[in-house]
Amino acid sequence: MEIRIERTTAPKQKPADESKLGFGKIFTDHMFIMNYDEGQGWHDARIVPYGPIVLDPSASVFHYAQECFEGMKAYRCADGHIQLFRPDCNAKRLQDTHERLCIPKIPVEDFVEAVRALVDVDRDWVPHIDGASLYIRPFTIATMPQLGVHASTMYQFIIICSPSGAYYAEGINPVKIYVESEYVRACPGGTGYIKCGGNYAASIAAGEKAEKLGYSQVLWLDGVERKYVEEVGSMNIFFKIDGEIYTAACVGTVLPGVTRRSCIELLKSWGYTVHEGKLAIADVMKAAADGKLEEVFGTGTAAVVSPVKQLDYEDQSALIGDGKIGPVTQRLYDELTGIQWGRLPDTHNWTVRV
Ligand code: COI
Repeated sequence: MEIRIERTTAPKQKPADESKLGFGKIFTDHMFIMNYDEGQGWHDARIVPYGPIVLDPSASVFHYAQECFEGMKAYRCADGHIQLFRPDCNAKRLQDTHERLCIPKIPVEDFVEAVRALVDVDRDWVPHIDGASLYIRPFTIATMPQLGVHASTMYQFIIICSPSGAYYAEGINPVKIYVESEYVRACPGGTGYIKCGGNYAASIAAGEKAEKLGYSQVLWLDGVERKYVEEVGSMNIFFKIDGEIYTAACVGTVLPGVTRRSCIELLKSWGYTVHEGKLAIADVMKAAADGKLEEVFGTGTAAVVSPVKQLDYEDQSALIGDGKIGPVTQRLYDELTGIQWGRLPDTHNWTVRV
């Protein structure tokens, strides 16, 4: 793939204090764009100055949400080099998402090349301090100007980047989670396993409700029986009960997280039994009451590895451990961030240099 590069003539001021970045609030100097037109395929790959895009008000994305995205990060290592974490996994997941949404696929090599090229052009924007990284947001939108409910014949694939710190205001401190029993996120046959904007739009009402009640996030139950734990929306979720690890299986309603997969691989390599399957919320609450719910943590690109200190479900409250990050959660966080920032050897070949 050939990428045309047009550099900005008016670079923006970089953040003066990288400890106050927050998440996804400021954007770098450039963005990647590539168009798709039926008969022509994906074409015109370019890196251009970051700025507004012009779309027809009838573009399908505005009406029927034929849209999807990815989330990944670039890390600056102590020796100054910059690396990505398993970008091929994001590329493959985007292909699965495109397939479900009837969007033509982007070859894995082209996706990775586009991300690398953009991060390279904006490399001075990759934060220097511990815990901050360059959050990368690739996304695809349907741009055909027409109001019929059909697959678009025109798309744009765009990548933007945002120097970011922790996703939660709590940072690595444990969060409180509200188990949602009114709204549902996903049902079998739906779009729960892909990263489409519609899944997130539908989750906002529950998130706002939980936030007003003082929680950081919502834990979703399955959409059929409202019995089994699924995910937290911005992260997958794991439970350590009586020495073993449990997480929902990715069987159509749960997002197959890249961090989730990496944590399972690490946990297994350390000798833990990891169950990927159905786990009833009633069993989680019972384990808590019996003193067997040892740790709960979420995993995600933005959330990294995020400890949970409290789960509230209907009128029951589960307090986890002593309210502090547990030893397995801490070990996963240290190992994963150690590999991502190049502090630990990458024995799994997960990182890719920019
Ligand atoms: C990510 O972790 O990259 C995500 O896309 C989750 C998003 C809700 C911030």
